[in-house]
Amino acid sequence: MRNATLRQLQIFEAVARHSSFTRAAESLHLTQPSVSIQVRSLAEAVGRPLFEQAGRRVQLTDVGRLLYDTCTEFSALWSRFEAAVDEVGALRRGRLRISVVTTAKYFLPKALGQFCRLHPGIEVELDVQNRDGILGRLRDNLDDFHVMSAPPADWAIESEPLLENPLVLIAPGDFAPPRGRYSLSDLAGERFLMRETGSGTRLAVDEYLARHRVRLANRMTLGSNEAIKQAVAGGMGLAVLSRHALTDADLREVRILPAKDFPLGGVWHIVHWREKHLSAAAQAFRDFLRTHAALPNEARPAAKRRPVRRR
Ligand code: PGA
Repeated sequence: MRNATLRQLQIFEAVARHSSFTRAAESLHLTQPSVSIQVRSLAEAVGRPLFEQAGRRVQLTDVGRLLYDTCTEFSALWSRFEAAVDEVGALRRGRLRISVVTTAKYFLPKALGQFCRLHPGIEVELDVQNRDGILGRLRDNLDDFHVMSAPPADWAIESEPLLENPLVLIAPGDFAPPRGRYSLSDLAGERFLMRETGSGTRLAVDEYLARHRVRLANRMTLGSNEAIKQAVAGGMGLAVLSRHALTDADLREVRILPAKDFPLGGVWHIVHWREKHLSAAAQAFRDFLRTHAALPNEARPAAKRRPVRRR
């Protein structure tokens, strides 16, 4: 059967339905000899005759009837497939897999919720990890797209700026900063709570420190924005965090320090492989993010920028 083609099955089905090679040829706009040739090739592929002549009419053999029933089932199956494709196109069904960096979890799930309310038939998987985790998922092509701040510049990816992700310097609510204009180096004697290696926030802070030759002597690593926020609120030290990680309630316990160069300007990007074929659901969600997503605290749509050269 491996040599049978869909076209042959279609021709066979027409002959069986009309009980006539001539009428099948007419209905398919083919010549009668080409219909006969195709049916003969199909019979050879099956290894048994499919029709027998009964006077002027052609009739199915037993094997021919089995094949006809199979064609009927196949045609019903194919119609269901076509209907499913239509539903996917109309976003009545489908799957959306997104992964985002931890800073984006303060706005993206909400946008996803709004999108799901519009398209309840779409199944959603959302994964939240730090930048290294997201790069790993991108490398393994596990998601439709990703949202992250510093897309690697030398990968074959498409990255579209989405929203600004400012990184602010925070301190306990009762912290007294130096008088006048001050910079991070003036605070270098304080204890700093840093995100873990592999975090994009950490990378941005390390790059800033290296660029300005600031050495922080007293550093401590905490593995999440939430832990850092709580520790700063508890008076443990200072930190640099995404502005979006701070709610109004947080800002009653921690304060944002207006140090020179701060906030550091980050930008969330929508990222996927350049060659990736985005599903209908993924395209719709990307468009939704561009236009409808409720913007988090002080977030502004990001302007187009050149990507930063990072691994
Ligand atoms: P992350 O997020 O610190 O959770 O890795 C960084 C980013 O905004 O890309």
